[in-house]
Amino acid sequence: GSEAPGKLEGIESWATWVGLNLLYERYLVKRKGFVVETPNEALERVASFVAEAELSLGGSLDAARQEFYEIMSSGRFMPNSPTIMNSGTKYHQLAACFVIPLEDDMDSIFSALNTAAWVFKTGAGAGFDFTPLRGRGSPLSFGGTASGPVSFMKLFDEVADVIKEGGRRRAAMMGVLHDVHVDLEDFINSKLSGGLENFNISVGVHDAFMMAAASDSEWNLYDPNECPQLVGLLSGDLPDLWRRCSPRRTVRASSLLEEAARAAWETGDPGLVFLDTINQHNPTPRLGRIRATNPCGETPLLSWEACNLGSLNLGRYVKDEGIDWELLEHDIRIAVRFLDDVIETSWYPRPEIEAAVKRTRKIGLGVMGWADMLAKLKIPYDSDSALYLADKLMEFIAYVARDESNRLSRERGPYPEFPGSIHKDGRFNFEPQVSSSQIYDESKVSDAVHSIVNSRPKLDWDRVRSEMMEGTRNATMTTIAPTGSISIIADASSSIEPFYSLIYIRQSSLFSWVELNRFLRDWLQESNNLNAEKIKDVIRHGGSVRGLSWVPSDVQAVLGTALDIDWRWHVRMQAVFQRWVDNAVSKTVNMRRDATVDDVKGVFIEAWRLKCKGITVFRDQSKGVQVMSVNQNI
Ligand code: CDP
Repeated sequence: GSEAPGKLEGIESWATWVGLNLLYERYLVKRKGFVVETPNEALERVASFVAEAELSLGGSLDAARQEFYEIMSSGRFMPNSPTIMNSGTKYHQLAACFVIPLEDDMDSIFSALNTAAWVFKTGAGAGFDFTPLRGRGSPLSFGGTASGPVSFMKLFDEVADVIKEGGRRRAAMMGVLHDVHVDLEDFINSKLSGGLENFNISVGVHDAFMMAAASDSEWNLYDPNECPQLVGLLSGDLPDLWRRCSPRRTVRASSLLEEAARAAWETGDPGLVFLDTINQHNPTPRLGRIRATNPCGETPLLSWEACNLGSLNLGRYVKDEGIDWELLEHDIRIAVRFLDDVIETSWYPRPEIEAAVKRTRKIGLGVMGWADMLAKLKIPYDSDSALYLADKLMEFIAYVARDESNRLSRERGPYPEFPGSIHKDGRFNFEPQVSSSQIYDESKVSDAVHSIVNSRPKLDWDRVRSEMMEGTRNATMTTIAPTGSISIIADASSSIEPFYSLIYIRQSSLFSWVELNRFLRDWLQESNNLNAEKIKDVIRHGGSVRGLSWVPSDVQAVLGTALDIDWRWHVRMQAVFQRWVDNAVSKTVNMRRDATVDDVKGVFIEAWRLKCKGITVFRDQSKGVQVMSVNQNI
């Protein structure tokens, strides 16, 4: 750090100490252990490297470079971490999400491990469907018996452990097992006794399973060794499976769901992945079915696909107690171009991955800073107004993003699989949609929010649909990622989550300090309450102000935290964003410590009913170590 009081520019003019620290430790290019670039230079590196795609695609490199740099250095947009870390470096792998296929043989398993190691090395994560692996105790061709999917997951976990030691980022994995597999209970309970630390796990469930659980019916479990056709099934195929294969066991569906809810209540895992909903929205059905997602669940992908993500920082679009729709539209278009360019400039760890990515050209534009936007507009997270605004805002992002992809297609050509896609037939990814009235009550929306939405530019979906049928550049446009690291860099609240806590005690190797939520700090200051006594009171109250008698009720309403907010609102918020999102929405339904197993089951059922693509819960203090807590270390 220089002592001279020079004028700071770009990211250096607004970044927080925590954000800069993260950049220096993990993102800036180092040589021989020394950081050799400034944060602004890092963003210039990213902008220049990604803009190089314009050369082969017939665009303007200089214009793109400047636009890309501007949206990042202003803090309005950040690409996913691997793009920031790896642009312009030797292994310039830029995507965050991968799905790597597995088959029931040694070659396939060890080759998947090898691919996964490369994915982890570049700071990205991978998801796997373990359903093809034969069940525990099933015979092997050379004699002996199989050890089952869970034992192989331990092997993947070991590899992830070893790779992360040299890396800058924890290797993250998603393990999926479908609800028809004979080892389902082993899988559901696989994280109860510790281990599998690098895995999130999800049960891939069918609509038929959820209905069987609701009606307390029997459910058949099969061994893929005996019934290979159970891999990649959807509900419609189940009657055929039931006719043609003999189950290994039959269990009550409701007790399986109960078991999953109990394990999730205890550890946060498993989540559920809703296979039928995901595949109803598969844009390229000719290429096969989607059986797994990336580590945090926001990107369901076909085998070998990868997806690069980027997020707009919503807090930065609040202007005059409304939304700056023009600036937002401008940035969506640049971000879409950026993410399409990333596909061209990225290095891929396997030829199969490169081929799959370039066949569908999936991108995932999303948002962060949603809680910031709501707080600036003084809208409580748990309100019909917030859900309505989310609905109209995400519709706008979906609309402009698809419009831009159509325009890019006229310039650069459609994605190669377009002729076999739903887009060619005039169907958007988010159709069919759950109706908004199932999620919120429009009659309860405030006048202020109505007027924000009324200032939104008019959307002409018919025009966008007919232009899309002529060609569109990307099979998916939108994804809502957790934005765990990039929201810290951008100084934004993460993803579409409410504030986790209004106060953090942060610790670095040198000292610890109290970090106040900016909206709380501003209010404390305005109301003459910024003193140690009041801050201690908020800390004693678990980092929340709801229920504190000296805080007025409107402030309590607007500053609700993740644990203040009832799980039903968490699920509704996920569902309302999902209405317009092509991929999926990563969201954690945070629950209070006293939530019951039945509540967790309630979350599962409600998320399924509202057509979420997956669901994850986390009950306060249910795990020894939490990613975020009031006592967070940095
Ligand atoms: O904020 P950032 O771009 O670093 O990532 P995120 O939005 O929190 O996570 C997006 C995706 O990045 C995850 O779903 C994973 O696929 C991947 N990821 C990973 O591989 N390893 C991590 N430690 C964190 C995220």
